[in-house]
Amino acid sequence: MEYTIVPMDRSHVGQIAELERECFSAPWSEAMLTEALFDAQASFIVAESEDGGLLGYAGLHVVLDEGYIDNIAVDPNARRHGVADELLDVFCRFGAANLAFLTLEVRASNEPAIALYRKHGFEEAGRRKDYYTKPKEDAVIMTRDFKKLR
Ligand SMILES: CC(C)(COP(=O)(O)OP(=O)(O)OC[C@H]1O[C@@H](n2cnc3c(N)ncnc32)[C@H](O)[C@@H]1OP(=O)(O)O)[C@@H](O)C(=O)NCCC(=O)NCCS
Repeated sequence: MEYTIVPMDRSHVGQIAELERECFSAPWSEAMLTEALFDAQASFIVAESEDGGLLGYAGLHVVLDEGYIDNIAVDPNARRHGVADELLDVFCRFGAANLAFLTLEVRASNEPAIALYRKHGFEEAGRRKDYYTKPKEDAVIMTRDFKKLR
């Protein structure tokens, strides 16, 4: 599968919002994604196919030396081809060079995502009870600490 990883720009917002609606019960809207374009703390990246189609995307917020992964999603037709691996690797390499840690929340039942994060060195750091709605579910907090590597 041929694709490149590029920074999110205005042209991606509609397709990302569509993917969000397909993947999540509380999707990010086009307005929220557009706001991220102008947020100096936000870094959103996109896996774009040769014809300009959106295969996946991931979003990160950085506060001082702390990194918060907002989301990662891959088009159902493009899954299991390493796209999420590539997207997450971009944030992990940035984190290893610049951050104390990367952290995120994931639904406790989301086995593909939990396996993805474990593969990239994230460990369970705790749980938030009933964090998610529609359906109600615990969040698993997963963190990759970079301090020890410095
Ligand atoms: C989770 C998700 C992003 C994975 O995307 P993907 O491009 O298919 O993942 P990759 O092909 O890069 O796989 C990377 C690793 O993730 C894990 N993984 C991905 N899909 C998996 C599945 N269905 N079952 C188990 N592990 C899976 C594996 O560890 C895999 O490594 P491997 O291929 O060496 O086994 C994708 O399933 C998705 O978009 N899900 C819906 C949105 C979502 O839940 N996002 C996470 C929110 S916190």
